[in-house]
Amino acid sequence: MRVLVTGAAGFIGSHIVDALVEAGCDVVGVDCLLPAAHTTAPDYLNPAAEFHRTDLCDSSSLRHILAGIDGVSHQAAMVGLGQSFDDVTDYVTHNDLATGVLLKMLAAEEFKGRFVLGGSMVVYGEGSYECTEHGMVRPLPRSAVKLDAGEFEPPCPRCDKDLVPRPIDETTPVDPRNVYAATKLHQEHLASIFSRETGAPVTLLRYHNVYGPRMPQNSPYAGVASIFRSRLEQGNSPEVFEDGHQLRDFIHVTDVARANVLALTAGFENPGPYNIATGQPKSISDMANALAEANGTPVISPVVTGRYRLGDVRHVFASTERAECLLGFRARVGFTEGMRTFAQARLRESGAPPSEPCAVRQ
Ligand code: UD1
Repeated sequence: MRVLVTGAAGFIGSHIVDALVEAGCDVVGVDCLLPAAHTTAPDYLNPAAEFHRTDLCDSSSLRHILAGIDGVSHQAAMVGLGQSFDDVTDYVTHNDLATGVLLKMLAAEEFKGRFVLGGSMVVYGEGSYECTEHGMVRPLPRSAVKLDAGEFEPPCPRCDKDLVPRPIDETTPVDPRNVYAATKLHQEHLASIFSRETGAPVTLLRYHNVYGPRMPQNSPYAGVASIFRSRLEQGNSPEVFEDGHQLRDFIHVTDVARANVLALTAGFENPGPYNIATGQPKSISDMANALAEANGTPVISPVVTGRYRLGDVRHVFASTERAECLLGFRARVGFTEGMRTFAQARLRESGAPPSEPCAVRQ
């Protein structure tokens, strides 16, 4: 099977290339080596795969690469929260337009193989919450006034009482709350419409918080695990925002790569979205402590700062039932073991400087 991996030089894409090579696939990688993500060409590109430095928006280069492709794992994207709304055109170009060009070129090639999209849980916005009086509810975005007062839990939008966070499943209505999230949702829509119009089977994998080797270092585009890991490496305490009790599902990148291989090679088609997660929610403080402990001696303790980022959601953690039952995917790397190895793992230089939280609690 000849598989195209887009974003093949990136954190997740490069692990997918490795996993596909390991599974015996003939792998073609493309990546435009976006300056915000790469200062130099990475030295970890799998020599068993073919690699092209190509911008997906360049349809003429793509045409040659797509000939004879049986499956696609589309990972190329600009990730993270970015620095300001000024980033909007870059996100739209690299995420929406590039996906549009890729799908158009695949349709022109009459591609009928599997197409797997590296999606994100950011499409959900806030996680799932239950009110003891009103059942399942969708809380409103948290206000700066409440966050300044240290009130981090979103209240019930109907009675203002406390809510209980619940695992989010794929039937939950989407609610993208930043530019990146909006472009990840648009990618899902474009891929689904492509599937309907061409008959090519599409699988949407909604990754939760991915961590592991080759994660980009501290940058506005990095996730919290890499930011904490970078701070520890420099001898600094991880700065935990809010009160540290916010919940996420941290999944190791090798498990995410395995989910891609499964979706591309399973003997059955896997339409629709799947949460790709461990099903074991952890708080940001749990993660900071696990990483600090694994980092060795002397232990540098995380600091809970009470600072916050206005765009952050409070809790998002996954129901993994659909992925387990239909895709047959279950994460293998446990949290403690994963964080232990991540503490020693090699991160990737990233091109953009780190940013400060956009708001500070008074
Ligand atoms: C992250 C990614 C998002 C991706 C999603 C799923 C970023 C910026 N966000 O969303 O793109 O789709 O995972 O893979 O890459 N925090 C701290 N200290 C810090 C930084 C963050 O305490 O120094 C806290 C935040 O306030 C938040 C939590 O850590 O509560 C998670 O932050 P982060 O990893 O940035 O964003 P997610 O919303 O989980």
